[in-house]
Amino acid sequence: NWSMEDFIDMQIDKIREKVGDDKVLLGLSGGVDSSVVGVLLHKAIGDQLTCIFVDHGLLRKNEAQLVMDSLAGKFGLNIIKVDAQQRFLDKLSGVTDPEKKRKIIGNEFIQVFNDEAIKLKGVKWLAQGTLYTDVIESGTDTAQTIKSHHNVGGLPEDMVFQLIEPLNTLFKDEVRELGEKLEMPHELVWRQPFPGPGLGIRVIGEITEDKLQIVRDSDAILREVIAQHGLDKEIWQYFTVLPGIRSVGVMGDGRTYDYTVGIRAVNSIDGMTADFAQIPWDVLQEISVRIVNEVDHVNRIVYDITSKPPSTIEWE
Ligand code: XMP
Repeated sequence: NWSMEDFIDMQIDKIREKVGDDKVLLGLSGGVDSSVVGVLLHKAIGDQLTCIFVDHGLLRKNEAQLVMDSLAGKFGLNIIKVDAQQRFLDKLSGVTDPEKKRKIIGNEFIQVFNDEAIKLKGVKWLAQGTLYTDVIESGTDTAQTIKSHHNVGGLPEDMVFQLIEPLNTLFKDEVRELGEKLEMPHELVWRQPFPGPGLGIRVIGEITEDKLQIVRDSDAILREVIAQHGLDKEIWQYFTVLPGIRSVGVMGDGRTYDYTVGIRAVNSIDGMTADFAQIPWDVLQEISVRIVNEVDHVNRIVYDITSKPPSTIEWE
């Protein structure tokens, strides 16, 4: 009679036995999997665990703060937070091709992680949030064959770690259950899917800090209104995009020429296919009014009513 409590106790014993007095390194992304691994490992080995959290500046509003407040603050994990926003912006400057953007973000992520990892002495183990589905699909991952994903840190050849993957027998819903049992915050445990390249692929074309700001702020409003109407538990994934087009509007007595923001909301099981979510008109209206009123340089909101296929969920 398998229960989550048994799983936690068993894993803690296993981890302790495996690593002994050694040090363990973990890359935190802000996602569910690495966060749960972090809390579980911390429970097992405390300060023998060091986490590296790379803030690439492409996270959603307040997301880095949430990770730090809860994982470092509440749970007491030892986290090295690297503020690498400018490094990423510089590397991405002038780049418009989606796949190039993904590669640059992925490579830079690995470099920043390695630059920090190399400063740590005597680390033998690298922990990862690999799930059962990653194990059975490895190499043939569907979404990954279509768009290159670079979310996992590769390491320099002279830094050889042994791997700890305590979630590699679990499915996603079991990881969430585990997170709940570990008393992790709801926002982390029930986080909607969020791509590794983050907001970098939601600013269509060239990424600038100004454009990121529009996506970040409009996305925060969208999420807030969706949650106020209790739709956050119903819609699988929802976010805003900045297509980069500008159009004419009026405000007061004046004519404006400002950006259009797109709303994307989908329901899906695994991201492979998806239906656009049918958000009620009054909720959409509230979102639209608030974004235009509260986010500078936006004068038009459009709602993406295509499903996948033929569209993808993300716009890039
Ligand atoms: P698409 O846009 O391919 O998205 O329909 C399917 C799911 O995958 C997410 N996605 C990504 N996740 N790195 C990721 O980690 C990526 O480069 C990436 N591109 C898309 C997307 O958010 C959706 O949940």
